[in-house]
Amino acid sequence: MMNDYQRFVAARIGRVPVSGLHRFFGIAAVMPDVISLGVGEPDFATPAPIAEAAFAAVYKKAIGYTANSGLLELREAISAHLEKLYNVSFDARNEILVTVGVSEALKCVFSAICNPGDEIIVPNPCFVAYEPEIIFADGTPVSVECLAENNFEPLAADIRAAVTEKTKAIFLGFPNNPTGATLTRENAIEIARIAEENDILIVSDEIYDRLVYVVEHVCFPALPNMKPRTILLGGFSKDYAMTGWRVGYICAPAPLLEAFSKIHQYAVMSAPTISQFAALAALEIGEPFVEEMRAEYDRRRKLVVSSLNEMGLDCFEPKGAFYAFPSVAKTNLTGDEFAEKLLFEEQVAVVPGSAFGAGGANHVRIAYCKSFEQIEIALERIQKLVNKL
Ligand SMILES: Cc1ncc(COP(=O)(O)O)c(C=O)c1O
Repeated sequence: MMNDYQRFVAARIGRVPVSGLHRFFGIAAVMPDVISLGVGEPDFATPAPIAEAAFAAVYKKAIGYTANSGLLELREAISAHLEKLYNVSFDARNEILVTVGVSEALKCVFSAICNPGDEIIVPNPCFVAYEPEIIFADGTPVSVECLAENNFEPLAADIRAAVTEKTKAIFLGFPNNPTGATLTRENAIEIARIAEENDILIVSDEIYDRLVYVVEHVCFPALPNMKPRTILLGGFSKDYAMTGWRVGYICAPAPLLEAFSKIHQYAVMSAPTISQFAALAALEIGEPFVEEMRAEYDRRRKLVVSSLNEMGLDCFEPKGAFYAFPSVAKTNLTGDEFAEKLLFEEQVAVVPGSAFGAGGANHVRIAYCKSFEQIEIALERIQKLVNKL
């Protein structure tokens, strides 16, 4: 009887599997003494002055809807911020849309650009929501695998080979979840050339732009000639430890932004108003906190990467975000099997790499979003499992 309801569900929903992550985390959540390096969310509280600025706004101002595209002051602050960091300028009045996180931005973008069957090239391993959101919008994701030996960057040649008549956009998510890879400027320029030659868009999710180590972040629309064909997605969740506030943004050429705004205005009206005040404060006063958190992630990153390599789990050096993505191939287990054993035998939760695309099957993702001390204990437990295998 229950299955009969399937006839009411649109076929495209059936094309997206239920995320295996939730089942896994459901188990981990009720097990005693588990250290979870699974969830990709900062362990830091939102810096107090940012939260206080938001609450002060609640007491001083009406918390009604904002303009559909977001508080003008916030859009102006985003514009100034990007100009200052990357020397790229977006008009706050018609080139910036404040969204409910990058998550809603993905929905607006794909719904607005995909006709049925349009192809979006997606390098993977990648964030779990990209491909489902493309499918929900009736588009077709076309995977391009990024390999550890290429620093988990997509090769321009592979992207070029994936371009067809139906390609609408190349999607880039760097710094990358789950690998921690960043894009070099040279590679970005080669990919930009492919977009120009084939008249296709670039969608660039740069939500981890401030969490880079050793390298400089490459902001895609700031590359020569790229602003007119790039849709930039950014947000506050990761850089400012503000996941629950649900604020992100899209910067894009005005006619495209108008299309995204249409979806946004009917779906959510405006991003949460109190959170927009928090985001404004983040841009105004958040810089020292970003640097403090970045430095602590960097300390943990070095510990995690060196420890994993010492225990024989080959780990590429991530230069961005807060993830390590070691290979477990030497244990003769798949990432799924390793993650399961690690959880049940040593009480450490990590995410099997297969969750992020076929290219991740021999890996696990370790989010170093726990205190240094907890990470040290988790690493000891991982070592114990490796010794047994
Ligand atoms: C690469 C990437 N993009 C987007 C998101 C979603 O972010 P938001 O909280 O802004 O919706 C995440 C969250 O994990 C992510 O890792």
